[in-house]
Amino acid sequence: MPGDSGHDITMVTCTAPVNIAVIKYWGKRDEDLILPINSSLSVTLHQDQLKSTTTVACSPRFKEDRIWLNGKEENINQPRLQSCLREIRRLVRKRHIDGNVSSSALSSHHKVHICSVNNFPTAAGLASSAAGYACLVYALARLLGAEGELSEVARQGSGSACRSMYGGFVQWRMGTQPDGTDSVAQQVEPESHWPELRVLILVVSAERKPVGSTAGMETSVGTSSLLKGISHVISQQTGPTASPQHRAESVVPQRMEEMVRAIQQKDFAAFGELTMKDSNQFHATCLDTYPPIFYLNDVSRRIISMVHRYNQHCGETRVAYTFDAGPNAVIYTLQQHVPEFVELLKYFFPTETNGEFLKGLPVSSVTLPEDLTKAIGMEPLPGGIGYIISTKVGPGPQVQEDPSLHLLGPGGMLKVDA
Ligand code: DP6
Repeated sequence: MPGDSGHDITMVTCTAPVNIAVIKYWGKRDEDLILPINSSLSVTLHQDQLKSTTTVACSPRFKEDRIWLNGKEENINQPRLQSCLREIRRLVRKRHIDGNVSSSALSSHHKVHICSVNNFPTAAGLASSAAGYACLVYALARLLGAEGELSEVARQGSGSACRSMYGGFVQWRMGTQPDGTDSVAQQVEPESHWPELRVLILVVSAERKPVGSTAGMETSVGTSSLLKGISHVISQQTGPTASPQHRAESVVPQRMEEMVRAIQQKDFAAFGELTMKDSNQFHATCLDTYPPIFYLNDVSRRIISMVHRYNQHCGETRVAYTFDAGPNAVIYTLQQHVPEFVELLKYFFPTETNGEFLKGLPVSSVTLPEDLTKAIGMEPLPGGIGYIISTKVGPGPQVQEDPSLHLLGPGGMLKVDA
């Protein structure tokens, strides 16, 4: 029997990680099944710093499915939640039909109660939906004994969630099947592969993004010739036009191959350059969307300049940035360069508050050489960066065995402090 049983309640608590893409997913070919127009690749971040935690409970006494997110009851009828519940139950039924279960196994008919929390600001451009859906799918599968391609289920909650089903370096193969059965995530290398790799999240703004990813990418697919190719956009007026250089079909397939190679060879210069170029092209696509979408702000652009000036001064690519659908920067670098780069950030973006500027993995202080700050040559911008989270590559979703971590009480209802 899975999980921790009360009288007739079975409960499971899991955690799942955030992932940050280095080759971006932006655009769907099927909105309902969430099938992308290109493959993508991400790094799974360590759950010691950023994670979703989800408790799922099941009981014959529950009258309906219910969900609480960050302490508040939400609508369970949301289509994407329903897709995940339906697909998990389908996998459970399949296992029962195959006769592959013990008599005590839970039924797919039982209603579930779900409670989920993030330890980071929701919708701040930190991929909260990816960790959340990955956690939900993983926990439900454990609770009900579903077996099968779980990344395919998580994908139907939020596209990028399928990549949070694995640790380390993960690719989401776009697939070609109309039913999405081959649009799945795969681990490229485990988290132990490149132990020197470090990640810094520069929280520029913890506010909600102005245009969500789902709506943003739909407009991009409809209007951006850089993303889908000229032929797609203007074919009604002029007929098909050759478009050899558009992102989804020409640029990304080649970059995916180069990125897998850079990761396998632990070639930071190649990894970093591809990461920055792909982030820049994603934001160029946003600008090429009509009306345009602006995710980067002035602080984001200063961070970009600082990284390029730093790399140029060092004579090599030591630091790389990437930005998702928001102004926060995610920096990839190697362990030995973290102290100097963090010192530079403190110098050019001095903190305005007494709050903790650096959270997460500890970073030692160093003295900045004068020629370095001169070479960067920027005016300091007090308060530009709110805080930094220092982290590294981490594992995929995990079951929490300690029952005190359950977010639902023994009756299957929200615990007061969850
Ligand atoms: C910019 O996965 O949030 O972070 O599938 O509509 O839920 P939906 O979108 P979502 O999009 C993520 C976009 C991105 C790039 C990436 O993570 O690859």
